[in-house]
Amino acid sequence: MKCLDDFRLKLGQRDYVPIMIGGMGVDISSAALALEAARLGGIGHISDAMAPTVSDRRFKTKFTRDKFQTFKSNFFNMDKSSVQFDLGQLAEATLNHVGKTMEAKKGDGAIFINCMEKLTMNGSRETLRVRLKAALDAGIDGISLSAGLHLGSFALIEDHPRFRDAQLGIIVSSLRALQLFLRKNARLNRLPDFVVVEGPLAGGHLGFGMDDWAKYDLATICNEIVAWLKAEELNIPIIAAGGIFTGSDATRFMENGSGAVQVATRFTVCEESGLPAKVRLKYFEAMEDDIVVNGVSPTGYPMRMLKNSPAIGDGIRPNCESYGYLLDDKGSCAYIQAFTREAEKAGSEKGLKIFDKTCLCTQMHDFNLWTCGSSTYRLKDTTNRLADGSYQMLTAEHVFKDYQFSKNDEIALPSLV
Ligand SMILES: Cc1cc2nc3c(=O)[nH]c(=O)nc-3n(C[C@H](O)[C@H](O)[C@H](O)COP(=O)(O)O)c2cc1C
Repeated sequence: MKCLDDFRLKLGQRDYVPIMIGGMGVDISSAALALEAARLGGIGHISDAMAPTVSDRRFKTKFTRDKFQTFKSNFFNMDKSSVQFDLGQLAEATLNHVGKTMEAKKGDGAIFINCMEKLTMNGSRETLRVRLKAALDAGIDGISLSAGLHLGSFALIEDHPRFRDAQLGIIVSSLRALQLFLRKNARLNRLPDFVVVEGPLAGGHLGFGMDDWAKYDLATICNEIVAWLKAEELNIPIIAAGGIFTGSDATRFMENGSGAVQVATRFTVCEESGLPAKVRLKYFEAMEDDIVVNGVSPTGYPMRMLKNSPAIGDGIRPNCESYGYLLDDKGSCAYIQAFTREAEKAGSEKGLKIFDKTCLCTQMHDFNLWTCGSSTYRLKDTTNRLADGSYQMLTAEHVFKDYQFSKNDEIALPSLV
């Protein structure tokens, strides 16, 4: 039987170990995790979600505090249209986050950034343009466009000197989304360099409907896209993602025409993951029926998470003056609407319980929304349970190499120290 190491992903002039660690906002796919993937010859992602807050944490900048200072007089106003991002600061935050990561890069792999279109930031076009351009300016090897159809995203950077040399790809969940993207971008004469095909078992937001996500299956979608690309004579590697838990799972996708796999869940509990240790423990402890797909994300996309996430039901006041990453172009967000409705009903803003939507910015920033892949309940089988009941720490290198070399659906446990 083959293993993942028998294959290579060719992108541009380079060959990679065909393992991509997926972007995980907010800073769960940390620079440390991405750097390990690159060192080991694969591709790691950092995420540009809430980059100013990530820069504040990593480099002690004060972007979030400054934004709050500027807009604090609006805090009790539910119309957030005046709460705008300072585009200069947004660029600086991205330059910090990406630039410092790229400076530290070692090895033959690459580091990409995951950019979500649904982070509309009260100015969707301008803020996305700034984020994409700054990432390219700071030397990122590639960009994965995610959480949205991105029909206009290539055009936002077509005049950038690196537009044709950086590796640019798109995440899709259907052939239709890919066809739409290609049609809308035909005039630019620039195909995506890779296409991540994300199925319904992934973590984070899902590119399927709330009612029908369970009807889809990654292998079928991949086969359909591979066949179509072949028929159209388009030589774009596809990268299968969602629920690929062992090296053998990954190998099966490679044998069916994938150029690589994108994996994330197994890395959430690694030492290099951005999740705090006490949250990693929740992921280890999760049972299958603790994992739910629900509609609490204000983006309107279904999202998978642990059902005991403290964010669910928490009726905190929106803090768009500090964050505001999900504000639409009119300065609103589905959580603000839910909060206003419940506050009016209760006649008070204190102690509200809101279950239909969550304040995603604050909750992700505080690590209180535990988004996860469908196989999270299997993480406990990937390490040793120690005598005190805790789980032995995994390193990204261990998990990466397990994907790379394992056969027969085996999962190598870390050696006991
Ligand atoms: C904790 C977590 C957070 C994620 N956040 C994002 C994100 O911010 N943007 C994105 O495009 N995908 C996100 N994903 C999806 C992953 O990048 C990846 O495609 C998918 O989870 C792979 O499936 P697996 O987790 O079963 O290996 C996230 C996944 C997890 C587990």
